Amino acid sequence: MHIAALHQPSQLQLNQQGNLKHFLTIEGLPKDTLTKILDTAQSFFDDNNNLITSPLLEGRTVMNLFFENSTRTRTTFEAAAKRLSANVLNIDIARSSTSKGETLRDTLWNLQSMAADIFVVRHSASGAAHFIAQTVCPDIAIINAGDGRHAHPTQAMLDMLTIRREVKKPFSDISVAIIGDIKHSRVARSDVAALQTLGCKDIRIIGPKTLLPVGFEQYAPDVRLFTNMDEGVKDCDVIIALRIQNERIESPALSSQSEFYKLYGLNEQRLSLAKPNAIVMHPGPMNRGVEIASSIADGPQSVILKQVTNGIAVRMAVLALSMQGQLQQKSLLAALAI
Ligand code: CP
Repeated sequence: MHIAALHQPSQLQLNQQGNLKHFLTIEGLPKDTLTKILDTAQSFFDDNNNLITSPLLEGRTVMNLFFENSTRTRTTFEAAAKRLSANVLNIDIARSSTSKGETLRDTLWNLQSMAADIFVVRHSASGAAHFIAQTVCPDIAIINAGDGRHAHPTQAMLDMLTIRREVKKPFSDISVAIIGDIKHSRVARSDVAALQTLGCKDIRIIGPKTLLPVGFEQYAPDVRLFTNMDEGVKDCDVIIALRIQNERIESPALSSQSEFYKLYGLNEQRLSLAKPNAIVMHPGPMNRGVEIASSIADGPQSVILKQVTNGIAVRMAVLALSMQGQLQQKSLLAALAI
């Protein structure tokens, strides 16, 4: 599927009551929905900032279907589902019968017959999560855990939660710089969409021309592109560093990693150009000494590991909200039984 086709506002994601049904992409979702995800995620922290547990998804089954590698997303989805008391099945795709020629559709139909309520899907093909949402039984919620270079909506929401918790200013009053390989990044795409929806007016995209998307300004006219990093990070509140997505780059986009670090690596000198209390973020996995210096990654302005914890809260929120319609139905049925 062409990425442009996926940017259309999608009714697929909301049910008739306007509640989240699938979470495939940020594009097309209203500000209220994103705010509800953030508020719900925040409600999963107690007064001491520890994550809570809840019986909300007791008896529900979450299946993690990762066709592409992951450390943070897969594990935090599992942690989130367990905190909500759901059953979690991590499907080992590498050992599944897809290696014997079974089609994706047949694999999904078999898994849905095992009483799944939610599929969390990561796939290297852009549009895979949309395809799955249109292929499986409508009662199963599909959550996109990253599809090709298209979207990574839960990463965007954990980034937004981290900004909200750490910067403590309205989105309309902050400047956010996203640096690195924007062209191949589903995180950049989803972050920009979330920032725009939440009202951020100063979004800067920084990178070499070869790693900036062609035609980006057509669907993001209010985003400023910079090839000079010092100009791009000046006075910003948030810096999001991204790794070079080598697995999605067909022809060489850079002369060398050391050249990239020299021009676009986030180091002490460049961070000093941002606001004094600016926060540094990175979705991971990080390449130290390529897009970010170790002293910055581990330094006092880094909130990189807080992003990971916030990821559990956001994924708890998305799992719970995607079952909201069914939970309401369940309590209605329970009330009728009384
Ligand atoms: N940020 C992110 O998606 O990391 P993983 O690939 O480890 O899940």
